[in-house]
Amino acid sequence: MTTDKIALVTGANRGLGRAAARALAARGVRVLITHRDDAAEAEKTVGEVRAAGGSADALRLDISDLASFPSFTSTLRERLERWSASRLDILVNNAGVGVFGPLENVTTDDFDTTMDVNVRGTFFLIQSLAPLLTGGGHIINVSSSLTRHTSPATSVYSASKAAVEALGRTLAVELGPRGIRVNSVAPGPTATDFNGGAMRDDAEMRRGLAGQTALGRVGEPEEIGDAIATLASDGLRWATAQRVEVSGGAFL
Ligand SMILES: NC(=O)c1ccc[n+]([C@@H]2O[C@H](COP(=O)([O-])OP(=O)(O)OC[C@H]3O[C@@H](n4cnc5c(N)ncnc54)[C@H](OP(=O)(O)O)[C@@H]3O)[C@@H](O)[C@H]2O)c1
Repeated sequence: MTTDKIALVTGANRGLGRAAARALAARGVRVLITHRDDAAEAEKTVGEVRAAGGSADALRLDISDLASFPSFTSTLRERLERWSASRLDILVNNAGVGVFGPLENVTTDDFDTTMDVNVRGTFFLIQSLAPLLTGGGHIINVSSSLTRHTSPATSVYSASKAAVEALGRTLAVELGPRGIRVNSVAPGPTATDFNGGAMRDDAEMRRGLAGQTALGRVGEPEEIGDAIATLASDGLRWATAQRVEVSGGAFL
């Protein structure tokens, strides 16, 4: 199945962003992905999409570098033109960082990095790219199951994702008159490089988290990618300002 839709997925050189890019492409969406430093891994995502018959291209973006947003937007417009397009249909704000630690260990740098990337970068990227989104367009912000349940040493990260959900709900109201939806996907613990790869590589942590999950295990990146692509599909076109948790029933 092909569509004429185009998605931009941030932080898709690995992890959940790569899985989301692949899942969107599998549903016929052309995908532009961003990477910060690792161009080779971004090209790997592009190669995987193309090998599966889809269309993909990669752009560099550091979402903590707001000064680069105007030139990023120009580059994005040029890439869209190569596809004879001038608009974006789906923006997946996936790029994010997890800086974890108990209250007494959190530094101002930890706090600022988390907020700069997860909140400030996400908000101002939406501001920069909203003019490119058309009626029927969709913004999906990647949040976390941690906005619903608690886990020690995650306060700043959880607060950053709560902010992402809150700004998404308000932007759903602001952008609704233009026919643009804004939703959040909230993954539970998922086996990626995130948090030093702990949810993938630390057997004890995996066992512990599995025991706190209704479905008895941590998630796989493809399960989050599929959720993002499903939320982006027309079948859910009447859903906006929603938080969709995909956690296998974590910490119920
Ligand atoms: N895995 C989980 O258990 C889990 C659970 C809930 C929510 N999430 C959220 O899901 C999203 C993706 O996480 P993941 O598991 O795929 O983690 P990951 O493997 O660590 O990937 C994070 C991605 O974000 C990018 N990124 C970080 N800072 C950036 C910046 N300043 N500018 C541009 N890109 C930046 C990374 O780029 P580089 O490769 O250059 O670092 C990478 O592509 C994040 O928002 C995370 O908070 C993850």
